[in-house]
Amino acid sequence: MRVLVTGGAGRLGRSVVAVLVERGHQVVSADLTAGPIAPQATQRVVNLLDDAARSEVFAEARPEAVLHLAGIAVPHSRPDTEILEINTLLAWTVLSDAARAGARIAVAASSPTVFGYGTPGWRPLRLPLDEEHPVAPLHSYGLSKAIIEETVRTLARAEGERCVFAAVRPGYVIAPEEWAGAPTQQGHTVAERLDRPELAAGSLFNYVDARDAAELFALLAERPGDVRSGQILHAIADDALARAPLAELLPRFHPGTAGLADGLTGDLPAFSNAAARASVGWRPRRSWRTELGASAPAS
Ligand SMILES: NC(=O)c1ccc[n+]([C@@H]2O[C@H](COP(=O)([O-])OP(=O)(O)OC[C@H]3O[C@@H](n4cnc5c(N)ncnc54)[C@H](O)[C@@H]3O)[C@@H](O)[C@H]2O)c1
Repeated sequence: MRVLVTGGAGRLGRSVVAVLVERGHQVVSADLTAGPIAPQATQRVVNLLDDAARSEVFAEARPEAVLHLAGIAVPHSRPDTEILEINTLLAWTVLSDAARAGARIAVAASSPTVFGYGTPGWRPLRLPLDEEHPVAPLHSYGLSKAIIEETVRTLARAEGERCVFAAVRPGYVIAPEEWAGAPTQQGHTVAERLDRPELAAGSLFNYVDARDAAELFALLAERPGDVRSGQILHAIADDALARAPLAELLPRFHPGTAGLADGLTGDLPAFSNAAARASVGWRPRRSWRTELGASAPAS
């Protein structure tokens, strides 16, 4: 298949490009910056907010699937208005162009931060969090992702006949080199996030291996018929990024979860990934226990 990946030079995008190439697809990656991506892919350095440049990319790629990852990926990393403007405009323009260009599916990267965990009294309706749980974003990044999900649903209604639209919420993405000790998105190593639970508490101890998340994006590209247009899917590991059960850790860092977290015993995570399994058969294949190997004692 011909697949266009936006943000293909990024932390997650590089794995998405690599997995697609491994699976035999013809990939064009479009990103503001050049990156060390799989050499079999075509790399275009382009600002996708530039209408003319974006048209050229679509004309060259003639995508059958569009995987839209480009955007500002870190909360508070830029002024709020920039995060909101860039992320929402990019999503609207790239996803609508996907339908116009004849793609059968267009998938946008969202984020579990749409749930708005972080306020002192945050209390979900239930745990683990699933895709049906209401969202309540807390900052401009989370709001931009909630708007992207609404964009997906809007386009599914408006353009549902010709293109399937979906969004994926990846957990805290761990790129392959980060298992070996490179700093993760927030600057700490994986081992530090395990040793100091207060670091991973801010994301409710969620994570996903970048190659596993990439596999979900690839499955969606390959199997549009198995996806309900407007669908939102979690791409989150089967276990929590923690050495102690979340039944203990969550109430300590998020007092509003007391009682609700009782069922999160053993290594169970705070998020369900059952919907991705049910729709396209996705299962995360990697865990921090297997990837860190002997250097990480079992919980
Ligand atoms: N990394 C995570 O833990 C995580 C978790 C949940 C969701 N996400 C989402 O997944 C996506 C990818 O995240 P990432 O960690 O790879 O981020 P990243 O910052 O490494 O990659 C994003 C890429 O988008 C590109 N980009 C930004 N603006 C652009 C523009 N105008 N035109 C073209 N390219 C542009 C950047 O150059 C960058 O390479 C993002 O949408 C992010 O919000 C990431």
